[in-house]
Amino acid sequence: MKIQFDETCGQFHLWNDKISYIMRIMENGQLEHLYFGKKVSPDRDYSYLSERGHRDMQACPIPENPKFSPEHIRQEYPCYGHGDMRMPAFEIERENGSKIVDFVYVSHCIYPGKKAIDPLPAIYCETQEEALTLEIRLRDEQIKTDLVLFYTIFASVPAISRHAEFVCQTEEKLSLETAMSFGIDLPDMNYEMVDLAGTWNRERHVRRHALEFGIQSVYSLRGSLSSHQFNPFLALARPGVDENAGEVIGMSLLYSGDFLARTEVDNYGVTRVTMGIHPQQFSWPLSMGEKFVTPEAVIVYSDQGLGEMSRIYHQLYRNRLARGVWRDRPRPILINNWEATYFNFDEEKLLSIAKKASEIGIELFVLDDGWFGHRNDSRSSLGDWYVNEKKLPGGIKGLAQKINDLGMSFGIWIEPEMISEDSDLYRAHPDWVLGDSRRTLSKARNQYVLDFSRPEVVDAVYRQLADTFQGVPIAYIKWDHNRSMSEVYSAGGGREYQGTVRHRFILGMYSLYARLRAEFPEILFESCASGGARFDPGMLYYAPQTWCSDDTDAIERIRIQYGTSMVYPLSSIGSHVSAVPNEQLKRVTPLRTRAAVAYFGTFGYELDLTKLSREELEEMKQEIAFMKQYRSLIQPGKLFRLISPFENDGNLASWEVVSQDGQKALVAYFRILQRPESPYTRLRLEGLEEDAVYVCREVKNCCCIEPDAEEWYRSGRELANIGLIMSDVSAGCAGVAADVQGDFLARMFLLEKTES
Ligand code: GLA
Repeated sequence: MKIQFDETCGQFHLWNDKISYIMRIMENGQLEHLYFGKKVSPDRDYSYLSERGHRDMQACPIPENPKFSPEHIRQEYPCYGHGDMRMPAFEIERENGSKIVDFVYVSHCIYPGKKAIDPLPAIYCETQEEALTLEIRLRDEQIKTDLVLFYTIFASVPAISRHAEFVCQTEEKLSLETAMSFGIDLPDMNYEMVDLAGTWNRERHVRRHALEFGIQSVYSLRGSLSSHQFNPFLALARPGVDENAGEVIGMSLLYSGDFLARTEVDNYGVTRVTMGIHPQQFSWPLSMGEKFVTPEAVIVYSDQGLGEMSRIYHQLYRNRLARGVWRDRPRPILINNWEATYFNFDEEKLLSIAKKASEIGIELFVLDDGWFGHRNDSRSSLGDWYVNEKKLPGGIKGLAQKINDLGMSFGIWIEPEMISEDSDLYRAHPDWVLGDSRRTLSKARNQYVLDFSRPEVVDAVYRQLADTFQGVPIAYIKWDHNRSMSEVYSAGGGREYQGTVRHRFILGMYSLYARLRAEFPEILFESCASGGARFDPGMLYYAPQTWCSDDTDAIERIRIQYGTSMVYPLSSIGSHVSAVPNEQLKRVTPLRTRAAVAYFGTFGYELDLTKLSREELEEMKQEIAFMKQYRSLIQPGKLFRLISPFENDGNLASWEVVSQDGQKALVAYFRILQRPESPYTRLRLEGLEEDAVYVCREVKNCCCIEPDAEEWYRSGRELANIGLIMSDVSAGCAGVAADVQGDFLARMFLLEKTES
């Protein structure tokens, strides 16, 4: 790994074993992008990649050189006002309204490691040897403002992280109107854009479509949410790229609010990608001495398809984004009371569920919504974070102790960024609601958003929560957020303040997380936003796991979790077994299928255990024992997606997790409907050692390995090239066991490396 600056040609070359990133200082002092991709030789001058030509009548070259037309040059961090007619990465408005800027190279520095990006989430290093950072300082002398571009290259992964900083040193009042985290101009458009899209209950489905001339983008304008609709991620994959082969560039933004991820293909086929805070509704005044820092983005290069891209993100986000005592610990198997009781519970009801939970080996009891103020439905009490003693006479402490006495730890739900009209907080501070009180304000789920752009509001919520939780044995917090921002106006400031509110809100929310994490370092946080509306890397910095979706139907979850795994590690995917008929879709699926899907995440249950039969509880007991044995394989394991539920007719799906030490692998195979006269099928495995021999066993009912289970010995080479036989009786195979037939089927296999 090295960052090299060649003074003679003004070229920066960042490389590690796998990738190179190259740019240069142009004749006009601005930066030109030259190359990003597989590693190329160091110590070479790549300025021949600057293409200059007299391109068209309407080009606007600099006066000194008719061939220097910025719109025909691949820019590094494109600006407005220099003949580049494409979308800029940043815009600054001067007092007189001019947006013309001219930032030119001043200096750079290179250092080992990586700095924190205060006050935003960021990838970190544990040792200085893990990464190298380059800071390039550019200055616009007229507006006396510096632009600093940050690049970090990592020693062990083909990834670069980027962000930008604006430092104002003028008395003139400036306004930052756009401040994207990065821009990159790629030399051609021969890509397909892969993104994750959906809605509530149907988050992060994988979409793929060819790049076209013009603009394609994904975004959020929901203020406080990265959203159910799109994820702050996109990848550009060469046509034909699959899970295992081909070139992909992944781009992921560490931010939880409004974002824009945009591709723009010009008429010469150059592809510009910019990603960052959405410029719509954003406007940030900059005064003398002030600085604005953009969120960080992580750009990954893979020449082994989408699967390798995902594993690189998993490694970085699991080990160098998630933090704290829970980062490396196996996640506790939990029971959550939401789908069991909704708001309708008392201590006796909760304890009856908890007792059953402890009998079958569950480790953590989570009390969801409805424990505070006088909340018995969604119409009241958000903002009043003190216990409802009618429901819990011994307070949270009393309940938590009883749960502890049953041998389980205790967790609780909060929604700190919200306020109900019927709450003491609202009666005391109606102006703390985000919105213009002179206009109609929409209520979503009967609630308003608190104005977290104001530090005094965040402080007040912090004090309430810290007081309520102090001295209570709380091991886990589920932090929810159940509405989008709509009529955004803050009473905290005047006209200039309004364009800052949405970003300040996110900073306020991050700061509350930071304070609560510091005060309660042992608590495991799980973020949530009506299911998965905030499944983004920004949140993973504060909460190492995220409730993936309110849709707990196992069949829908196959798609949702498959899509989520495109970027996010299994250790971050909140996944529960729920009751049948399923609450969202009324679908009835076998318990083993529900468990087999939920294992590939943090794993837990969300149903009324007191209503289950002895047989069901016995099966769950086995599932829990199974997960306790294999979660340290699954959660930090290497994920290989084998069959996509988004391809063909979506009837099959499969994935495989290989343990970090390569000794074991678990394979899951899902068949939605059993079809008549099916083809013979084989499942080709990935990530195994070709010359090793594996003993393969089917996981009976997806919950146990029976001592006398049938064993097959197969070499890694056979498993990769021939595969495991998955044909069923409808494919004409006689003797297929009855328990691997029928609809909504899950099968699992355990593979262990052996000497024989
Ligand atoms: C959201 C969450 C659910 C549950 C409810 C409680 O919808 O996603 O899991 O916590 O809120 O109101």
